[in-house]
Amino acid sequence: MKVLVIGSGAREHALCRSLSLDPDITALHCAPGNAGIAEVAELHQVDALDGKAVAALAGDLGADLVVVGPEAPLVAGVADAVREAGIPVFGPSREAAQLEGSKAFAKEVMAAAGVPTARSYVCTTEAEVAEALDAFGAPYVVKDDGLAAGKGVVVTSDPDAAKAHAAACVGVAHPPSGQRGRVVVEEFLDGPEVSLFAVTDGRTVVPLQPAQDFKRALDGDEGPNTGGMGAYSPLPWADPKLVDEVLRTVLRPTVDEMRRRGTPFSGLLYAGLAITSRGVRVIEFNARFGDPETQVVLARLRTPLAGVLLAAANGTLADLEPLRWSEDAAVTVVVASHNYPGTPRTGDPITGLDEVAAEDAPHAYVLHAGTRRDGDAVVSAGGRVLSVTATGEDLSAARERAYRAVDRIRLDGSQHRTDIAARAAGA
Ligand code: AMP
Ligand code: GLY
Repeated sequence: MKVLVIGSGAREHALCRSLSLDPDITALHCAPGNAGIAEVAELHQVDALDGKAVAALAGDLGADLVVVGPEAPLVAGVADAVREAGIPVFGPSREAAQLEGSKAFAKEVMAAAGVPTARSYVCTTEAEVAEALDAFGAPYVVKDDGLAAGKGVVVTSDPDAAKAHAAACVGVAHPPSGQRGRVVVEEFLDGPEVSLFAVTDGRTVVPLQPAQDFKRALDGDEGPNTGGMGAYSPLPWADPKLVDEVLRTVLRPTVDEMRRRGTPFSGLLYAGLAITSRGVRVIEFNARFGDPETQVVLARLRTPLAGVLLAAANGTLADLEPLRWSEDAAVTVVVASHNYPGTPRTGDPITGLDEVAAEDAPHAYVLHAGTRRDGDAVVSAGGRVLSVTATGEDLSAARERAYRAVDRIRLDGSQHRTDIAARAAGA
Protein backbone atom coordinates (compact mmCIF):
# COMPACT_ATOMS: atom_id res chain seq x y z
CA MET A 1 0.00 0.00 0.00
CA LYS A 2 1.24 3.48 -0.90
CA VAL A 3 0.35 6.17 1.62
CA LEU A 4 0.64 9.96 1.55
CA VAL A 5 0.53 11.77 4.91
CA ILE A 6 -0.26 15.50 4.97
CA GLY A 7 1.32 17.60 7.74
CA SER A 8 4.61 18.48 9.35
CA GLY A 9 4.33 18.02 13.11
CA ALA A 10 5.36 15.38 15.62
CA ARG A 11 1.88 13.88 15.24
CA GLU A 12 2.62 13.30 11.56
CA HIS A 13 6.06 11.93 12.45
CA ALA A 14 4.35 9.50 14.84
CA LEU A 15 1.88 8.50 12.11
CA CYS A 16 4.71 8.06 9.59
CA ARG A 17 6.80 6.08 12.07
CA SER A 18 3.94 3.65 12.73
CA LEU A 19 3.15 3.38 9.01
CA SER A 20 6.81 2.77 8.20
CA LEU A 21 6.76 -0.23 10.58
CA ASP A 22 3.64 -1.66 8.88
CA PRO A 23 4.53 -4.59 6.58
CA ASP A 24 1.68 -3.64 4.21
CA ILE A 25 3.37 -0.34 3.31
CA THR A 26 5.32 -0.35 0.04
CA ALA A 27 5.85 3.42 -0.22
CA LEU A 28 5.47 6.20 2.31
CA HIS A 29 5.23 9.87 1.33
CA CYS A 30 4.70 12.99 3.39
CA ALA A 31 4.03 16.62 2.48
CA PRO A 32 5.48 18.90 3.60
CA GLY A 33 7.05 16.87 6.46
CA ASN A 34 10.11 17.82 8.50
CA ALA A 35 13.71 16.73 9.08
CA GLY A 36 12.70 13.70 11.18
CA ILE A 37 9.93 12.51 8.88
CA ALA A 38 12.46 12.60 6.01
CA GLU A 39 14.15 9.60 7.62
CA VAL A 40 11.09 7.37 7.18
CA ALA A 41 9.18 8.92 4.26
CA GLU A 42 9.85 10.67 0.97
CA LEU A 43 9.04 14.37 1.34
CA HIS A 44 7.13 16.51 -1.16
CA GLN A 45 6.27 20.17 -1.26
CA VAL A 46 2.58 21.04 -1.47
CA ASP A 47 0.26 23.72 -0.16
CA ALA A 48 -1.48 21.57 2.46
CA LEU A 49 -4.54 23.84 2.35
CA ASP A 50 -5.01 23.40 -1.41
CA GLY A 51 -7.24 20.35 -1.92
CA LYS A 52 -6.69 20.17 -5.68
CA ALA A 53 -2.91 20.28 -5.25
CA VAL A 54 -3.01 17.55 -2.58
CA ALA A 55 -5.29 15.37 -4.75
CA ALA A 56 -2.97 15.90 -7.75
CA LEU A 57 0.10 14.93 -5.71
CA ALA A 58 -1.70 11.82 -4.39
CA GLY A 59 -2.64 10.91 -7.98
CA ASP A 60 0.93 11.40 -9.25
CA LEU A 61 2.26 9.20 -6.45
CA GLY A 62 -0.34 6.50 -7.07
CA ALA A 63 -1.36 6.75 -3.40
CA ASP A 64 -3.82 4.13 -2.15
CA LEU A 65 -4.57 6.25 0.92
CA VAL A 66 -4.13 9.87 1.98
CA VAL A 67 -3.97 10.64 5.71
CA VAL A 68 -4.65 14.27 6.61
CA GLY A 69 -2.96 15.13 9.91
CA PRO A 70 -3.85 18.72 10.92
CA GLU A 71 -7.22 20.43 11.29
CA ALA A 72 -6.66 23.39 8.96
CA PRO A 73 -6.61 21.34 5.71
CA LEU A 74 -9.66 19.36 6.89
CA VAL A 75 -11.64 22.52 7.62
CA ALA A 76 -10.49 23.83 4.20
CA GLY A 77 -12.00 20.76 2.47
CA VAL A 78 -8.81 18.92 1.49
CA ALA A 79 -10.31 15.49 2.30
CA ASP A 80 -13.29 16.28 0.03
CA ALA A 81 -11.00 17.10 -2.90
CA VAL A 82 -9.01 13.88 -2.47
CA ARG A 83 -12.19 11.81 -2.15
CA GLU A 84 -13.62 13.46 -5.27
CA ALA A 85 -10.48 12.39 -7.11
CA GLY A 86 -11.39 8.79 -6.23
CA ILE A 87 -8.59 8.27 -3.72
CA PRO A 88 -9.40 6.89 -0.24
CA VAL A 89 -8.72 9.47 2.45
CA PHE A 90 -8.51 9.29 6.23
CA GLY A 91 -10.08 12.51 7.47
CA PRO A 92 -13.52 14.09 7.60
CA SER A 93 -15.21 16.30 5.01
CA ARG A 94 -15.14 20.05 5.39
CA GLU A 95 -18.68 19.98 6.79
CA ALA A 96 -17.97 17.21 9.30
CA ALA A 97 -14.72 18.92 10.38
CA GLN A 98 -16.89 21.76 11.68
CA LEU A 99 -17.10 19.65 14.86
CA GLU A 100 -13.65 21.12 15.48
CA GLY A 101 -13.82 24.19 13.24
CA SER A 102 -16.69 25.79 15.14
CA LYS A 103 -17.19 25.38 18.85
CA ALA A 104 -20.75 26.69 18.48
CA PHE A 105 -21.52 23.99 15.89
CA ALA A 106 -20.05 21.32 18.16
CA LYS A 107 -22.30 22.52 20.99
CA GLU A 108 -25.34 22.34 18.73
CA VAL A 109 -24.52 18.76 17.66
CA MET A 110 -23.92 17.73 21.28
CA ALA A 111 -27.26 19.20 22.32
CA ALA A 112 -29.05 17.33 19.53
CA ALA A 113 -27.24 14.08 20.36
CA GLY A 114 -27.73 14.37 24.13
CA VAL A 115 -23.96 14.39 24.73
CA PRO A 116 -22.91 15.72 28.16
CA THR A 117 -20.92 18.97 27.90
CA ALA A 118 -20.47 22.27 29.74
CA ARG A 119 -23.50 24.57 29.65
CA SER A 120 -22.70 27.46 27.35
CA TYR A 121 -23.82 30.61 25.56
CA VAL A 122 -22.79 31.60 22.06
CA CYS A 123 -22.26 35.38 22.11
CA THR A 124 -21.73 37.90 19.33
CA THR A 125 -21.59 41.15 21.32
CA GLU A 126 -19.66 42.28 24.35
CA ALA A 127 -22.94 42.89 26.21
CA GLU A 128 -23.96 39.25 25.69
CA VAL A 129 -20.52 38.17 26.88
CA ALA A 130 -20.83 40.21 30.08
CA GLU A 131 -24.24 38.68 30.79
CA ALA A 132 -22.97 35.13 30.18
CA LEU A 133 -19.93 35.68 32.42
CA ASP A 134 -22.23 36.84 35.20
CA ALA A 135 -24.54 33.88 34.71
CA PHE A 136 -21.75 31.31 35.28
CA GLY A 137 -19.45 33.22 37.63
CA ALA A 138 -15.72 32.60 38.13
CA PRO A 139 -13.60 30.83 36.99
CA TYR A 140 -14.55 32.14 33.55
CA VAL A 141 -14.15 30.12 30.35
CA VAL A 142 -14.11 32.11 27.11
CA LYS A 143 -13.54 30.40 23.75
CA ASP A 144 -12.95 31.78 20.31
CA ASP A 145 -15.50 30.01 18.07
CA GLY A 146 -13.00 29.21 15.29
CA LEU A 147 -9.68 27.40 14.95
CA ALA A 148 -6.89 28.85 17.08
CA ALA A 149 -4.24 26.10 17.42
CA GLY A 150 -5.13 25.44 21.06
CA LYS A 151 -4.61 29.10 21.96
CA GLY A 152 -8.18 30.43 21.56
CA VAL A 153 -9.35 29.49 25.04
CA VAL A 154 -8.91 31.60 28.15
CA VAL A 155 -9.71 30.20 31.59
CA THR A 156 -9.36 32.90 34.24
CA SER A 157 -10.75 34.21 37.48
CA ASP A 158 -10.14 37.77 36.33
CA PRO A 159 -13.33 39.18 34.76
CA ASP A 160 -11.36 41.87 32.90
CA ALA A 161 -9.09 39.26 31.28
CA ALA A 162 -12.17 37.22 30.30
CA LYS A 163 -13.82 40.28 28.76
CA ALA A 164 -10.64 41.33 26.97
CA HIS A 165 -10.27 37.90 25.32
CA ALA A 166 -13.94 37.90 24.33
CA ALA A 167 -13.60 41.39 22.85
CA ALA A 168 -10.59 40.25 20.81
CA CYS A 169 -12.51 37.19 19.50
CA VAL A 170 -15.60 39.21 18.60
CA GLY A 171 -13.38 41.37 16.39
CA VAL A 172 -11.76 38.52 14.41
CA ALA A 173 -12.84 37.13 11.02
CA HIS A 174 -12.14 33.40 10.56
CA PRO A 175 -10.87 31.96 7.33
CA PRO A 176 -12.11 30.28 5.22
CA SER A 177 -15.70 31.29 6.08
CA GLY A 178 -14.78 34.87 6.89
CA GLN A 179 -17.42 34.66 9.59
CA ARG A 180 -16.90 37.31 12.20
CA GLY A 181 -16.86 37.28 15.90
CA ARG A 182 -18.60 34.46 17.72
CA VAL A 183 -17.44 33.58 21.17
CA VAL A 184 -18.53 30.73 23.41
CA VAL A 185 -18.78 31.43 27.14
CA GLU A 186 -19.25 28.32 29.23
CA GLU A 187 -19.33 26.92 32.72
CA PHE A 188 -16.04 25.86 34.27
CA LEU A 189 -15.49 22.11 34.41
CA ASP A 190 -13.43 20.79 37.30
CA GLY A 191 -11.55 17.48 37.37
CA PRO A 192 -8.82 15.83 35.32
CA GLU A 193 -8.84 15.90 31.53
CA VAL A 194 -8.68 12.87 29.26
CA SER A 195 -8.14 12.72 25.51
CA LEU A 196 -9.95 9.80 23.92
CA PHE A 197 -9.55 9.17 20.19
CA ALA A 198 -11.85 7.05 18.07
CA VAL A 199 -11.40 5.90 14.51
CA THR A 200 -14.70 5.95 12.64
CA ASP A 201 -16.00 5.39 9.12
CA GLY A 202 -19.16 7.36 9.87
CA ARG A 203 -20.99 4.36 11.29
CA THR A 204 -18.70 2.02 13.22
CA VAL A 205 -16.69 3.60 16.05
CA VAL A 206 -13.42 2.05 17.27
CA PRO A 207 -12.00 3.78 20.36
CA LEU A 208 -8.24 3.91 20.94
CA GLN A 209 -6.58 3.93 24.38
CA PRO A 210 -7.04 7.11 26.44
CA ALA A 211 -4.20 9.55 27.03
CA GLN A 212 -3.63 12.69 29.04
CA ASP A 213 -2.18 15.89 27.63
CA PHE A 214 -0.45 18.76 29.48
CA LYS A 215 -1.81 21.96 27.98
CA ARG A 216 -0.12 24.60 30.07
CA ALA A 217 3.38 25.81 29.26
CA LEU A 218 4.94 25.47 32.72
CA ASP A 219 5.37 22.87 35.45
CA GLY A 220 2.47 22.53 37.86
CA ASP A 221 -0.01 23.53 35.12
CA GLU A 222 1.05 27.15 35.30
CA GLY A 223 1.49 29.60 32.47
CA PRO A 224 -0.40 30.04 29.21
CA ASN A 225 -2.26 27.36 27.21
CA THR A 226 -0.23 25.72 24.45
CA GLY A 227 -0.85 23.09 21.78
CA GLY A 228 0.33 20.54 24.38
CA MET A 229 3.65 20.09 26.21
CA GLY A 230 3.59 16.35 26.86
CA ALA A 231 1.37 13.30 27.22
CA TYR A 232 1.18 9.80 28.62
CA SER A 233 -0.85 6.63 28.28
CA PRO A 234 -2.36 4.55 29.83
CA LEU A 235 -4.10 6.37 32.69
CA PRO A 236 -3.66 4.21 35.81
CA TRP A 237 -6.04 6.43 37.79
CA ALA A 238 -8.94 6.23 35.34
CA ASP A 239 -11.99 4.00 35.76
CA PRO A 240 -11.48 0.92 33.53
CA LYS A 241 -15.06 1.42 32.31
CA LEU A 242 -14.31 4.97 31.08
CA VAL A 243 -13.76 4.06 27.42
CA ASP A 244 -17.00 2.05 27.23
CA GLU A 245 -18.92 4.84 28.91
CA VAL A 246 -17.57 7.50 26.53
CA LEU A 247 -18.25 5.24 23.55
CA ARG A 248 -21.88 4.91 24.68
CA THR A 249 -22.57 8.46 25.85
CA VAL A 250 -20.35 10.57 23.58
CA LEU A 251 -18.72 8.95 20.55
CA ARG A 252 -21.54 6.82 19.13
CA PRO A 253 -24.29 9.44 19.66
CA THR A 254 -22.12 12.10 17.98
CA VAL A 255 -21.25 9.91 14.98
CA ASP A 256 -24.93 8.91 14.68
CA GLU A 257 -26.06 12.54 14.82
CA MET A 258 -23.57 13.58 12.13
CA ARG A 259 -24.81 10.76 9.87
CA ARG A 260 -28.44 11.71 10.55
CA ARG A 261 -27.64 15.26 9.38
CA GLY A 262 -26.31 13.94 6.08
CA THR A 263 -22.74 14.97 6.97
CA PRO A 264 -21.21 11.71 8.22
CA PHE A 265 -17.98 12.07 10.14
CA SER A 266 -15.23 9.69 9.07
CA GLY A 267 -11.63 9.81 10.25
CA LEU A 268 -10.47 10.49 13.78
CA LEU A 269 -12.92 11.85 16.32
CA TYR A 270 -11.04 13.27 19.28
CA ALA A 271 -13.07 13.74 22.44
CA GLY A 272 -11.44 16.11 24.94
CA LEU A 273 -13.11 15.18 28.23
CA ALA A 274 -13.27 16.47 31.78
CA ILE A 275 -13.89 13.85 34.47
CA THR A 276 -15.90 16.09 36.77
CA SER A 277 -17.45 15.39 40.14
CA ARG A 278 -20.79 15.21 38.29
CA GLY A 279 -19.57 12.80 35.60
CA VAL A 280 -17.86 12.89 32.23
CA ARG A 281 -18.28 16.08 30.15
CA VAL A 282 -16.99 16.93 26.69
CA ILE A 283 -14.69 19.96 26.69
CA GLU A 284 -14.15 19.92 22.95
CA PHE A 285 -14.11 17.79 19.84
CA ASN A 286 -11.26 17.71 17.39
CA ALA A 287 -11.50 16.25 13.91
CA ARG A 288 -8.00 14.73 13.82
CA PHE A 289 -5.39 12.97 15.92
CA GLY A 290 -4.25 15.01 18.93
CA ASP A 291 -0.73 16.29 19.24
CA PRO A 292 1.14 15.18 21.43
CA GLU A 293 -1.27 12.41 22.56
CA THR A 294 -0.87 10.53 19.25
CA GLN A 295 2.81 10.05 20.04
CA VAL A 296 1.96 7.95 23.12
CA VAL A 297 -1.18 6.25 21.81
CA LEU A 298 0.53 4.99 18.65
CA ALA A 299 3.58 3.93 20.68
CA ARG A 300 1.26 1.39 22.33
CA LEU A 301 -0.77 0.24 19.30
CA ARG A 302 0.28 -3.21 18.11
CA THR A 303 -2.21 -3.58 15.23
CA PRO A 304 -0.56 -2.35 12.01
CA LEU A 305 -1.86 1.16 11.43
CA ALA A 306 -2.41 1.34 7.66
CA GLY A 307 -5.21 -1.23 7.60
CA VAL A 308 -7.07 0.59 10.39
CA LEU A 309 -6.94 3.95 8.62
CA LEU A 310 -7.83 2.41 5.26
CA ALA A 311 -10.85 0.61 6.76
CA ALA A 312 -12.09 3.96 8.12
CA ALA A 313 -11.55 5.58 4.72
CA ASN A 314 -13.35 2.75 2.90
CA GLY A 315 -16.27 2.29 5.31
CA THR A 316 -15.26 -1.23 6.34
CA LEU A 317 -14.40 -0.74 10.01
CA ALA A 318 -17.13 -3.19 11.05
CA ASP A 319 -14.95 -5.97 9.58
CA LEU A 320 -11.80 -4.94 11.45
CA GLU A 321 -10.36 -7.34 14.06
CA PRO A 322 -10.27 -5.86 17.59
CA LEU A 323 -7.24 -3.61 18.06
CA ARG A 324 -4.25 -5.05 19.91
CA TRP A 325 -2.35 -2.98 22.48
CA SER A 326 0.99 -3.26 24.18
CA GLU A 327 0.99 -3.59 27.97
CA ASP A 328 3.76 -0.96 28.03
CA ALA A 329 3.25 2.61 29.13
CA ALA A 330 4.36 5.55 26.98
CA VAL A 331 5.41 9.10 27.81
CA THR A 332 6.24 11.99 25.50
CA VAL A 333 7.92 15.25 26.49
CA VAL A 334 7.71 18.23 24.15
CA VAL A 335 10.84 20.33 23.69
CA ALA A 336 9.74 23.81 22.61
CA SER A 337 11.54 26.87 21.29
CA HIS A 338 12.49 29.90 23.29
CA ASN A 339 9.37 32.07 23.84
CA TYR A 340 6.76 29.42 22.81
CA PRO A 341 3.71 29.79 22.86
CA GLY A 342 4.50 33.40 21.93
CA THR A 343 6.38 34.05 18.69
CA PRO A 344 9.06 31.36 18.89
CA ARG A 345 12.72 31.86 18.08
CA THR A 346 13.74 29.53 15.21
CA GLY A 347 16.89 28.57 13.28
CA ASP A 348 18.80 27.27 16.33
CA PRO A 349 20.84 24.07 15.81
CA ILE A 350 19.68 20.91 17.59
CA THR A 351 22.33 18.43 18.76
CA GLY A 352 22.24 15.14 20.65
CA LEU A 353 19.77 13.43 18.29
CA ASP A 354 22.37 10.84 17.21
CA GLU A 355 23.22 10.13 20.83
CA VAL A 356 19.56 9.34 21.61
CA ALA A 357 19.41 7.04 18.57
CA ALA A 358 22.63 5.29 19.65
CA GLU A 359 21.98 5.04 23.40
CA ASP A 360 18.23 4.97 23.97
CA ALA A 361 16.62 3.25 20.99
CA PRO A 362 14.33 1.41 20.63
CA HIS A 363 12.67 2.33 23.93
CA ALA A 364 13.17 6.08 23.50
CA TYR A 365 13.13 8.02 20.26
CA VAL A 366 12.74 11.57 19.05
CA LEU A 367 9.76 12.59 16.96
CA HIS A 368 10.29 15.86 15.14
CA ALA A 369 7.81 18.76 15.00
CA GLY A 370 9.24 22.16 13.96
CA THR A 371 12.59 21.07 12.48
CA ARG A 372 14.34 21.38 9.14
CA ARG A 373 17.69 20.46 7.68
CA ASP A 374 20.27 23.15 7.18
CA GLY A 375 23.19 21.47 5.46
CA ASP A 376 24.32 18.72 7.82
CA ALA A 377 22.59 20.30 10.79
CA VAL A 378 19.02 19.96 12.05
CA VAL A 379 17.65 23.33 13.18
CA SER A 380 14.50 24.48 14.93
CA ALA A 381 11.71 25.74 12.67
CA GLY A 382 8.66 26.19 14.90
CA GLY A 383 7.25 26.54 18.41
CA ARG A 384 7.08 22.90 19.36
CA VAL A 385 10.33 21.41 18.08
CA LEU A 386 10.58 17.80 19.29
CA SER A 387 8.43 15.19 21.00
CA VAL A 388 10.78 12.94 22.92
CA THR A 389 8.91 9.67 23.35
CA ALA A 390 9.66 6.56 25.40
CA THR A 391 8.02 3.31 26.41
CA GLY A 392 8.54 1.22 29.52
CA GLU A 393 6.92 -1.45 31.67
CA ASP A 394 5.17 1.30 33.63
CA LEU A 395 4.87 5.08 33.50
CA SER A 396 7.74 5.55 35.85
CA ALA A 397 10.13 3.58 33.58
CA ALA A 398 8.83 5.30 30.45
CA ARG A 399 9.20 8.69 32.09
CA GLU A 400 12.74 8.03 33.20
CA ARG A 401 13.73 7.00 29.67
CA ALA A 402 12.02 10.00 28.08
CA TYR A 403 13.76 12.48 30.38
CA ARG A 404 17.13 10.74 29.99
CA ALA A 405 16.79 11.28 26.22
CA VAL A 406 15.63 14.89 26.71
CA ASP A 407 18.80 15.51 28.74
CA ARG A 408 20.98 14.47 25.79
CA ILE A 409 19.42 17.07 23.49
CA ARG A 410 20.81 20.59 23.16
CA LEU A 411 18.75 23.41 21.69
CA ASP A 412 19.66 26.92 22.72
CA GLY A 413 16.95 28.61 24.78
CA SER A 414 14.63 25.59 24.63
CA GLN A 415 12.06 24.78 27.28
CA HIS A 416 10.25 21.66 28.42
CA ARG A 417 8.13 20.65 31.36
CA THR A 418 9.79 18.44 33.96
CA ASP A 419 6.57 17.04 35.42
CA ILE A 420 5.00 15.16 32.50
CA ALA A 421 3.26 12.03 33.89
CA ALA A 422 4.91 12.64 37.27
CA ARG A 423 1.75 12.44 39.35
CA ALA A 424 0.34 9.44 37.43
CA ALA A 425 3.68 7.63 37.81
CA GLY A 426 3.65 8.29 41.55
CA ALA A 427 6.91 10.25 41.19
P1 AMP B 1 -10.26 23.59 24.18
O1 AMP B 1 -9.51 24.26 23.05
O2 AMP B 1 -11.71 23.77 24.14
O3 AMP B 1 -9.79 22.17 24.39
O4 AMP B 1 -9.71 24.27 25.51
C1 AMP B 1 -8.34 24.28 25.82
C2 AMP B 1 -8.16 23.97 27.28
O5 AMP B 1 -8.84 24.95 28.08
C3 AMP B 1 -8.74 22.64 27.72
O6 AMP B 1 -7.90 21.56 27.51
C4 AMP B 1 -8.96 22.90 29.20
O7 AMP B 1 -7.76 22.75 29.91
C5 AMP B 1 -9.38 24.33 29.23
N1 AMP B 1 -10.86 24.39 29.21
C6 AMP B 1 -11.64 24.48 28.12
N2 AMP B 1 -12.94 24.50 28.46
C7 AMP B 1 -12.99 24.42 29.81
C8 AMP B 1 -14.06 24.40 30.76
N3 AMP B 1 -15.33 24.50 30.41
N4 AMP B 1 -13.72 24.30 32.06
C9 AMP B 1 -12.42 24.22 32.43
N5 AMP B 1 -11.39 24.25 31.60
C10 AMP B 1 -11.65 24.34 30.28
N1 GLY C 1 -3.16 18.13 22.35
C1 GLY C 1 -4.32 18.86 22.04
C2 GLY C 1 -4.71 18.85 20.65
O1 GLY C 1 -4.19 18.13 19.83
O2 GLY C 1 -5.63 19.58 20.32
